[in-house]
Amino acid sequence: LYIVHIAAEMAPVAKVGGLGDVVTGLGKTLQKKGHLVEIILPKYDCMQYDGIHDLRALDVTVESYFDGKLFQNKIWVGTVEGLPVYFIEPHHTNKFFWRGQYYGEHDDFKRFSFFSRAALEFLLQAGKKPDIIHCHDWQTAFVAPLYWDLYAPKGLNSARICFTCHNFEYQGIASASELASCGLDAQELNRPDRMQDNTAHDSVNPVKGAIVFSNIVTTVSPTYAQEVRTAEGGKGLHSTLNSHSRKFMGILNGIDTDAWNPATDNFLKVQYSANDMQGKAENKAAMRRNLGLSSADDQRPLVGCITRLVPQKGVHLIKHAIYLTLEMGGQFVLLGSSPVPHIQREFEGIANQFQNHEHIRLILKYDESLSHAIYAASDMFIIPSIFEPCGLTQMIAMRYGSVPIARKTGGLNDSVFDVNEETIPNQIRNGFTFTTPDEQGISSALERAFNFYKNNKESWKQLVQKNMNIDFSWDSSASRYEELYAKSISRARAQAS
Ligand code: ADP
Ligand code: GLC
Repeated sequence: LYIVHIAAEMAPVAKVGGLGDVVTGLGKTLQKKGHLVEIILPKYDCMQYDGIHDLRALDVTVESYFDGKLFQNKIWVGTVEGLPVYFIEPHHTNKFFWRGQYYGEHDDFKRFSFFSRAALEFLLQAGKKPDIIHCHDWQTAFVAPLYWDLYAPKGLNSARICFTCHNFEYQGIASASELASCGLDAQELNRPDRMQDNTAHDSVNPVKGAIVFSNIVTTVSPTYAQEVRTAEGGKGLHSTLNSHSRKFMGILNGIDTDAWNPATDNFLKVQYSANDMQGKAENKAAMRRNLGLSSADDQRPLVGCITRLVPQKGVHLIKHAIYLTLEMGGQFVLLGSSPVPHIQREFEGIANQFQNHEHIRLILKYDESLSHAIYAASDMFIIPSIFEPCGLTQMIAMRYGSVPIARKTGGLNDSVFDVNEETIPNQIRNGFTFTTPDEQGISSALERAFNFYKNNKESWKQLVQKNMNIDFSWDSSASRYEELYAKSISRARAQAS
């Protein structure tokens, strides 16, 4: 198949969180399975340009409509992780993608509706005929209505549209009048069975639009797919998802096992594997040295946490875990940053409080290289999310021999299984889980993990080694996407004949 992903992120060149990992990991695996996979991204100024190979501008420019005018877009092509990527650079007076950050601008709705349309315009003008156009999250959700309203009639009509929602918290809701900028008919679409937001009736909801207009709708774990179909978990979209349930399903993400492999990871001080664990101890020692943590006691467990610091991730529970770890005689390293100013300030306060502490370090920034070092150095890893569509850090942690302590929600519920959970086969038990999103919940799990670590050294070692061998690759999940694509294509053919 010829599959085109249109997305706002792609690891490692334009990554904010897991979305970037998924676009690359799923794309690479589909490519390996023999499909032609291409990615379309905005050409941001803040990308990691050294991760893009053979970047060059195409001779053609693509004209796309926005706000009543035509804009010229320069198209660049390059290779990222072996995948061909097209980057769209608009010659727009507002410099849409030259803002020094990926998101969080006052005109994100405009920036990404512009991008969605320009991406389709590029496919049309370049004469490309993908079988599948796969868009992700609200930023490229516009692709679905744009495709059927404007581009299929113009001849870009070979494709089925797949939409993956990585997080229903972010829906891109805006006043209905904003929709006209990208050429969509705001009046036609601002209806309850189309893009009208289910709560604010003068607003349109791009994610709702993508649910309505795509042929395939997925989210990133089976448990989260169930949660979002309830009034408590659906962030206002449960009724829409329920009325489109036939085309909606949850597929658990994988991780890119080439990028996340302790046996070949160049970010690590020493590489290691389940059969040769000495390197893990050396990474722990190196991390303690580099961060100025005490290395007096070898047996002191190191707890890691790598996360965007947003309410979804259970920030109050993370805070509690820091103090509890200290009380129980462990060490704690947090790597995270927050787009929410008061949360960022709060964690800066804690970081200052522990600035020279021998057992705690908070590093409040985005740092790819340090993230690898922490996965490798830590013995345990906390993910106390309030909700979690999938979560990748628990899988990466296990691959690096760090045992997850997670709240049972969304994708965490589908990938972390408590060592004491007797209803679950022993061979798939891999961590410590809790249910209630409060201090007592995380305390009970963290305490059990510490006791296990201290009192059952041999069993802990076996647990770590077993976890490192779990298959978290994209293989089986990419096959699920292949099946969905194929089914949708054959349904379309059957309808056409
Ligand atoms: P989300 O997408 O909600 O942020 P995921 O668990 O799906 O959560 O993915 C998070 C990804 O971002 C992981 O690859 C993790 O290692 C990475 N990450 C998160 N925060 C940081 C940070 N401060 N520095 C480096 N990598 C980070
Ligand atoms: C979102 C979710 C996270 C998921 C990631 C990739 O950012 O918050 O749970 O793993 O997307 O799908």
